[in-house]
Amino acid sequence: MIPVRLFASDLDGTLIGKPDATRRFRLAWDSLTAENKPVLCYNTGRLVRDVLQLIENTDLPRPDYIIGGVGTQIFEFTNKASLKKFSEIMEEGWDKTKVEEIMSEMAQTRRQPPQYQHRYKSSWYWSEARPEDIQGLEDRLREAGMTVHVIYSSNRDLDILPKMANKGNALMWLLDHIGIAKDQVLVAGDTGNDSAMFLVPGVRGVLVENAQPELIERTLAAQTFQAEGVCADGVIEGLMHYGVLQNVPEL
Ligand code: GLC
Repeated sequence: MIPVRLFASDLDGTLIGKPDATRRFRLAWDSLTAENKPVLCYNTGRLVRDVLQLIENTDLPRPDYIIGGVGTQIFEFTNKASLKKFSEIMEEGWDKTKVEEIMSEMAQTRRQPPQYQHRYKSSWYWSEARPEDIQGLEDRLREAGMTVHVIYSSNRDLDILPKMANKGNALMWLLDHIGIAKDQVLVAGDTGNDSAMFLVPGVRGVLVENAQPELIERTLAAQTFQAEGVCADGVIEGLMHYGVLQNVPEL
């Protein structure tokens, strides 16, 4: 088995959501020696500034990188700096004002609060939207000349992002930037916006027990391990399956 050199994980419903499991994950991660410890990257829908606070207020270990805003921001934790070169890619074909104009005409959607919005992320709530509703919205945006990326997760969250933005493309950019091969990567997640990470060719993945059907359906062709544990307990199980961890730590 090829050793895992980078572990990229979603946060909500994956590494956080079950506090005792997050604590176990931290204990396990901290117990790895430098040479056995993969690079740790959080890959989340939350914005970077929100993740930084979360790291302070929870048991999450300090990562090496944070991919925030559903693949729209990459932050180097050790230098406390955003990778500016990555942001330049986001500019291409992106016109947030126009996106918001079209979105505000949609009766079924409600804007997420300001702390969830940023330059390259327009986020909305749309309860129980059907696949054809999302398709209809994509058509409408395309007809208005927008080439954007629409991601619907958890039967509620709707993100409109620049066309290259998703968790998978951001992860690939980072791998290229730091020189790690795709087959040395392990990912973990629970909802639809995670699927792009699982679908990066060569990557192996962990589906936590509480993974939504939308993620399971979209990753049928990917190399995945379905854990029985919920949230971070499932992650620990996956890390053991892929040989990163040898045992479950006791609190
Ligand atoms: C996180 C973000 C939210 C986004 C969702 C799905 O919950 O805070 O803005 O819509 O992830 O990507």
